[in-house]
Amino acid sequence: MSRRPIGIIVNGVTGRMGYRQHLVRSLLAIREQGGVPLADGTRIWPELILVGRNESRLRDIAERHGLTDWTTDLTAALARDDVDVYFDAQLTQQREKAVRQAIDAGKHIYTEKPLAEDSAAAVELARAADAAGIRTGVVQDKLFLPGLRKLKRLVDGGFFGRILSVRGEFGYWVFEGDWQPAQRPSWNYRAEDGGGIVMDMFPHWHYVLAELFAPVRAVTCVNATHIPRRVDEAGRAYPATADDAAYGIFELEGGIIAQLNSSWAVRVHRDELVEFQVDGTEGSAVAGLRNCRVQHRSVTPKPVWNPDLPSGESFRSQWSEVPDNDEFDNGFKVQWEAFLRHVVAGEPFPWDFMAGARGVQLAELGLRSAREHRRIEIPELDR
Ligand SMILES: NC(=O)c1ccc[n+]([C@@H]2O[C@H](COP(=O)([O-])OP(=O)(O)OC[C@H]3O[C@@H](n4cnc5c(N)ncnc54)[C@H](O)[C@@H]3O)[C@@H](O)[C@H]2O)c1
Repeated sequence: MSRRPIGIIVNGVTGRMGYRQHLVRSLLAIREQGGVPLADGTRIWPELILVGRNESRLRDIAERHGLTDWTTDLTAALARDDVDVYFDAQLTQQREKAVRQAIDAGKHIYTEKPLAEDSAAAVELARAADAAGIRTGVVQDKLFLPGLRKLKRLVDGGFFGRILSVRGEFGYWVFEGDWQPAQRPSWNYRAEDGGGIVMDMFPHWHYVLAELFAPVRAVTCVNATHIPRRVDEAGRAYPATADDAAYGIFELEGGIIAQLNSSWAVRVHRDELVEFQVDGTEGSAVAGLRNCRVQHRSVTPKPVWNPDLPSGESFRSQWSEVPDNDEFDNGFKVQWEAFLRHVVAGEPFPWDFMAGARGVQLAELGLRSAREHRRIEIPELDR
């Protein structure tokens, strides 16, 4: 069995996503399983170069995981011949500049979403990457969640008949930071630092809706900053200038209506942190991160509206669980493996910079819809 080493710069490795999901749960997990197998028996072996701003934090992480290659000098790392891939999980605002640098250095690029802060910049990155002949990818992890994989299976199997609507609830209470520390970084709540729930979540909603149901053709969004003042990591109070909730209506090609609420100011009374209910003429489903339940038309009860009497029905118990029928690995890791096979063996990988740019476009137009209090149609983005 031969090993094919692939040099990967991991930038932003001290961050929440960079460390847990990308380094530990994906790249180190891939090494622990012996690499990514290719059809000819070769195994792609990630050689990691950790990049960040803070030497001691990088050294700590490297030592904790038996890694030896780390630097605070991105330019020098990009100049190395043994580096094939640049990965970016930095703060969103830092991404465009670093990605452009990586394009100029001729490296393949994989990055967290959103690809850039606006769609014009994202499309420019896609074009520059095409011109440089490099391979690109943007994280679309939600597609690989077990709950959504089961939902996709139902769509592909024709369970729903004609799909009518999708209702989604995403969110949880993010602590204000005063009497309990916030569980998300404070930049998320400052517009001037690239924060905001629309820019954070609409790129996800874009690919979830397009890949499971149909492309989004129009958006109507109302957003809010429900919590106007928060306390940061250093204990300093700051004005929250970014949206912390977004109430969106997405009209999909073919007439499906999707309504998705995203909020960091909501308390969870659901089974999972995100849940989508899909209603179709033949049946309905409710999918979360892991689970998915269905109700077919043949077993749909006939509730009668009478507020004078207790309903006597246990509506939740009238649904059945969709079985796993599969093993589900960590979604970030599954997508990393696909990207590495794309780079090394040319296997298809649809989630490129242009796909990322479409996600940014939906966020941008969602924000415009909220600002201008109107419905906005989504134009095609050209390569
Ligand atoms: N795919 C997902 O589900 C998902 C979830 C959360 C965040 N994200 C994305 O991942 C990226 C990182 O988010 P996070 O929650 O890990 O953030 P974080 O604040 O925990 O990490 C940010 C990283 O960027 C680095 N950085 C570089 N320049 C910086 C600067 N000037 N100021 C502050 N940090 C700087 C930090 O050192 C750190 O390593 C964002 O682009 C975000 O949109 C994706």
